[in-house]
Amino acid sequence: MTQDTQKRFDDRTVARSWWILIVFTIMTALLGFVAMGYLGSQIESDDPIVETFTPEGIFVQPDAEWNTSILESKSPEARELRKLGWLVTLIAAGIFLVVEFLLIFAIFRYRRTSGSDDDSEPVQLYGSNPIELAWTIIPIMIVFVLCLATIRTIQVVQPTKTERPEGALTVEVIGHRWWWEFRYPELNVVTANEMFVPKDRPIWLEIGSADVIHSFWVPELQGKMDAIPGKTNYWRFTPEEAGTYLGQCAEYCGTQHANMLIRVEVLEEDGFEAWADAQARAATDVRGPEIDKGRQVFLENACQSCHAIAGVSEGTYAPDLTHLMSRTTFAGGMIPNTARNLKAWIDDPDQIKPGCDMPSLKLSPDQIEQLVAYLLTLK
Ligand code: CUA
Repeated sequence: MTQDTQKRFDDRTVARSWWILIVFTIMTALLGFVAMGYLGSQIESDDPIVETFTPEGIFVQPDAEWNTSILESKSPEARELRKLGWLVTLIAAGIFLVVEFLLIFAIFRYRRTSGSDDDSEPVQLYGSNPIELAWTIIPIMIVFVLCLATIRTIQVVQPTKTERPEGALTVEVIGHRWWWEFRYPELNVVTANEMFVPKDRPIWLEIGSADVIHSFWVPELQGKMDAIPGKTNYWRFTPEEAGTYLGQCAEYCGTQHANMLIRVEVLEEDGFEAWADAQARAATDVRGPEIDKGRQVFLENACQSCHAIAGVSEGTYAPDLTHLMSRTTFAGGMIPNTARNLKAWIDDPDQIKPGCDMPSLKLSPDQIEQLVAYLLTLK
């Protein structure tokens, strides 16, 4: 290779590297925007989520409004977390801008120009104290700031066992594969998947698990808190606006992890008291030929060994059914609570929620009709 061809070769290589860099940067930016747009539409869309049908024609996505954005905080705790999130994002964006600016500046300023014949290497710098000090001290300071901000936020949002707020409502949260149990020890109420709480009152959560590790997460109200078997984690939030808040198990816990949903209904104080009064009562004792046969089906099969119905059965393995029909969904918040869906579910739960612990009891169509007639009385 003569010197001349070597130079042309170098020029071409440099030009090609340029193009690769430019195309790569644009593609990365585009991909980033597409990914952000997609995630954003998943998280903040008010559109009904695509209705998915199972072989039985069941809707598996009941909610028209599915908002699980951490940017719409509706409690002081969630707001603190959002503030920290923005601080970290801004610092990271600042670092990104400075680094990209220096990179692009250096590429342009020190590139080899076509007219130059200078083949010598640039000055090689080793052991520059000012530079090494700068890139050691600046990152340490940034990490220190992030660390302080994080510790402060943790102190605000994460209580210890002894920091139960005055006048708080206690809810014991128990993760199960794949549903949530909510127990209100002060009110003698047990329910599943749908947690009702009053507005403007601190809610004190005692979180545990009956099997594997889950994580309780309702983004608009608080951050994530693990539900660990054999351990109680304490968590609290004070909801500020009445409404429905959706959440999701946030720790992979098996095949149906994605269908382990949480609904928090925040009610005005009166509404909450009415709800709690109704929930604390025993099951309504409605009679009728079909209903009585349904109750028999419930008692003579395995149903009663897993499910509790106050005054009827005492199972604790599966959701309490005493006031089943006061809930809008069942199966871990996955399915709207309707007669048709209950029948399909009882017939073969595994069809709808593969891997779930409830077995198909191979009941006859008549038995299923009777059982559901009974369940519909559990208001
Ligand atoms: Cu429970 Cu994931």
